[in-house]
Amino acid sequence: MPGVCHHSVDDALDREVDRIRALGIHAVLLFGLPAAKDELGSENYSADGIVQRALRRIRARHQDLLLVTDVCCCEYTSHGHCGVLRDRRVDNDATLEVLGRVATTHADAGADIVAPSGMMDGMVAAIRGALDAAGHTDAAILSYAVKYASAYYGPFREAAGSTPAFGDRREYQMDPANVREAILEAALDEAQGADMLMVKPALAYLDVVRAIRERTSLPLVAYNVSGEYSMVKAGARLGWLDERRVVLESLMGMRRAGADVIISYHAKDAAGWLAEERGG
Ligand code: PBG
Ligand code: ZN
Repeated sequence: MPGVCHHSVDDALDREVDRIRALGIHAVLLFGLPAAKDELGSENYSADGIVQRALRRIRARHQDLLLVTDVCCCEYTSHGHCGVLRDRRVDNDATLEVLGRVATTHADAGADIVAPSGMMDGMVAAIRGALDAAGHTDAAILSYAVKYASAYYGPFREAAGSTPAFGDRREYQMDPANVREAILEAALDEAQGADMLMVKPALAYLDVVRAIRERTSLPLVAYNVSGEYSMVKAGARLGWLDERRVVLESLMGMRRAGADVIISYHAKDAAGWLAEERGG
């Protein structure tokens, strides 16, 4: 993805976080890429895992930056699925235990919010239980409550090497044609104690953002995913789109649909443009 790269946990990470803060961005979402992937994705819940080390390093320099972490297995597992496998299928309940361990190690290392993205049934309750048992009663859960099985994740999977080695994610992610299931998934996660809900992807699902907005008082997040970002970048590179105007118009659409928070790879550009428009 143009303009996006992996960071190692060293002074290059410090500089990147400093740049983000200087733009007036006060929250970051961390994804990890382990040195080695294995069947269980064991680096995911290691105290010395890549995300855990990054959290400690960032937290030592920034007490007031909101640190959010992705909690899923697919970047860590050799097979690329979002959970632990049994007979070539994701074992939902065995995965819940892993997710609880991952979330706890993230909170131990300084995460304020954990964001489970695997769409496992019961993941919010399992993570809440694990966090509370470890004394992390203040750590919040941003649930990817409504995540569709989408082709728009393509560039992310290529960057993370997390394309499933066989099968696909339709066992656990949602059918793009279905909106009533989205409402049900959001309600289930809210009942399990989610502090924030997410709809993902954003642009092709703005009706879903609106539907959830009308049914919950929780903060609602839209994830402007890798494929959405890459399409705009490609169009701009070809000279077919005015990148700045298209990005700001798209982000505005997400806000209009009812998103309180937007996760976007355009964040740094958008923050700079918005500051310019404010005359800052
Ligand atoms: C992992 C995860 C994915 C994304 C965020 N967390 C990929 C997937 O479900 O395959 C997608 C992010 C993006 O496309 O920007 N569960
Ligand atoms: Zn996953």
